[in-house]
Amino acid sequence: MRIANPVALHPTRPYGAILGLAPSKGARSPVLWRAAFAALGIEADFHPFDVAPLHLAQVVAALKADARFIGGAVAVPFKEDIISLLDEVDGPARAIGAANALWRTADGGLAGANTDGLAARDCLVEILGPLAGTRVQVLGLGGAGKAVAATLAAAGADILLWNRTQDKAEAYARHLSELGMMARAVGEPQPAAILVNATSVGFRADCAANDDLPVSSAYLDRLSQGALVFDVVYQPDRTALLRAAEARGLRTLGGRRMNLLQAAIAFRLCFADADGRIVAAAMEGASS
Ligand code: ATR
Repeated sequence: MRIANPVALHPTRPYGAILGLAPSKGARSPVLWRAAFAALGIEADFHPFDVAPLHLAQVVAALKADARFIGGAVAVPFKEDIISLLDEVDGPARAIGAANALWRTADGGLAGANTDGLAARDCLVEILGPLAGTRVQVLGLGGAGKAVAATLAAAGADILLWNRTQDKAEAYARHLSELGMMARAVGEPQPAAILVNATSVGFRADCAANDDLPVSSAYLDRLSQGALVFDVVYQPDRTALLRAAEARGLRTLGGRRMNLLQAAIAFRLCFADADGRIVAAAMEGASS
């Protein structure tokens, strides 16, 4: 397999993996999945696989052919490209056009699902309660942004879509409306009760500080007190956006909770019999 980082696969033990450009530099999935394996007494490993885009198809083919491979996670920038390489893709992942979770089908195929949107919705509901009618400005329409927008639209939120390249926002608004969901593309980010940053601005693979903001300071000044700023980025833990929002007295939510919830949902796609409470508790313990 064309993996850029050193990975020692056990000759027989099952393993899961996160596929990304550089998940070895701080992705949380290995820590979370290993904690769940330990809590459930499952003998398995979980590895970060750093994959160059040119090698994605080859790596996926090798994983399909490897009976030890259980499934796992897909990270930046492969959530969209991986769809066409899988044997099966569930409805939400197909509608969103991105998969972030992998699991084995009963006949040994490799399937993809999208657990990002569900995780984002669940962690917003934990803080705010039902989201119907709540205005949400989504920034960025990569895999994560599309998942968040579609899932929150399905929950009845009033979704505004902004992307650096506006065509993408307009095309996705049309796509959602064809699926019976409402979302509007906007040329500039608009004030909203929830701002979701799903761009990669603020991200640092090595978790070092990064001062980049996905919106202007003037935009943040226009948000009303009580607005929630949710950064899907979880590396670093407190992004410049969250720090800027806190400095203005706004409510904030970092990406770690969503990351934990998406991992817990994905784990149970691979291990349907696993007790969800044990999985969540183990992952929470590993995360704190
Ligand atoms: P993920 O899977 O985490 O969503 P992705 O698919 O690589 O990651 O998507 C990254 C998103 O961040 C895209 O919406 C991208 O905008 P483009 O579609 O115009 O490429 C957005 N993005 C990346 N860098 C950006 C920047 N400097 N300013 C604004 N948006 C940016």
